Amino acid sequence: MSFPSVRPRRTRQSDAWRRMVRETRLAPDQLIYPLFVVPGAGVRRPVTSMPGICQLSVDEAVNEARATLQAGVPAVLLFAAPAHKDEKASAALDPNGLAAEAIAAIKAACPQLLVWADVCLCGATDHGHCGHVLPGGVIDNDSSAQTLAEVALNYARAGADAVAPSDMMDGRVQSIRRALDRDGLTMTPIVSYAAKFASAFYGPFREAAESAPALGDRRSYQMDPANGREALREVQLDIEEGADLVMVKPAGPYLDVIRQVRDTVEVPVVAYQVSGEFSLIKAAAERGWIDERAAVMEALTGIRRAGADLIITYYAREVARWLGSR
Ligand code: PBG
Repeated sequence: MSFPSVRPRRTRQSDAWRRMVRETRLAPDQLIYPLFVVPGAGVRRPVTSMPGICQLSVDEAVNEARATLQAGVPAVLLFAAPAHKDEKASAALDPNGLAAEAIAAIKAACPQLLVWADVCLCGATDHGHCGHVLPGGVIDNDSSAQTLAEVALNYARAGADAVAPSDMMDGRVQSIRRALDRDGLTMTPIVSYAAKFASAFYGPFREAAESAPALGDRRSYQMDPANGREALREVQLDIEEGADLVMVKPAGPYLDVIRQVRDTVEVPVVAYQVSGEFSLIKAAAERGWIDERAAVMEALTGIRRAGADLIITYYAREVARWLGSR
């Protein structure tokens, strides 16, 4: 059969039909909202390159966490930018450090909200790299994986519902799983940034998280944007090491990777719509060049259609609101 008896437009002719035959759905339960925590009290410092996003002191982060839960978004992803930065990332290892304090405060105020703690060294090191740097600028993979395990343990002990290593060191999921299990934290899941690409789209985030590397770039640990097969290998290795969820990051420029990962693994697949993807839409919307709501819904639906089960997005709360009002 073909035209004129076949007419795909028949099921497209009204909103009711379009809703019924829609293949991909977005729901607040699939979203995770990032929060940036800084020292102090009563601090809400706007991130210039990310309109609507602020660096927050712990008390303000608690308010945002409440609002996130109220919006129907089930989880936040927490980043901390402690004041003290040194070679050893001491602030991230400190049980009374900024991240640990924020995790505990949010869990005390909103026990039902899931707190995913980003685990990395870049926000707490003076050089801004995600691992330890040897003289000459080489990253020391194995000692970094060890420290990352201690950071993850610190955050899990503080009450994090999941730890999310974003550093891309080899073997870090294994060292984190071992450290958690040794400590009796056998039920803390690991959300692994498994296929994280060395991306220009992280630019705005580095202002928010104060994590730009002082020297060099991240291409010796984050992946080459050209490599899809290698992404599958990274994802498989992380699952073998004990990752409970795997992430592809960024999302929009890597939809093919999301699809391949979804078709290859059984665990939930998370996609991160990163700061640059957010800021591009914001900037165009502010100039009246694009319909913000329609563009956001289309971008996120595309990420879901590509195969992402969950999406980390700076638009999480607005999207939850839009979905509620339809
Ligand atoms: C740091 C980290 C980055 C992001 C999440 N964790 C930046 C980077 O690797 O340079 C990016 C998030 C975003 O751009 O929204 N380990």
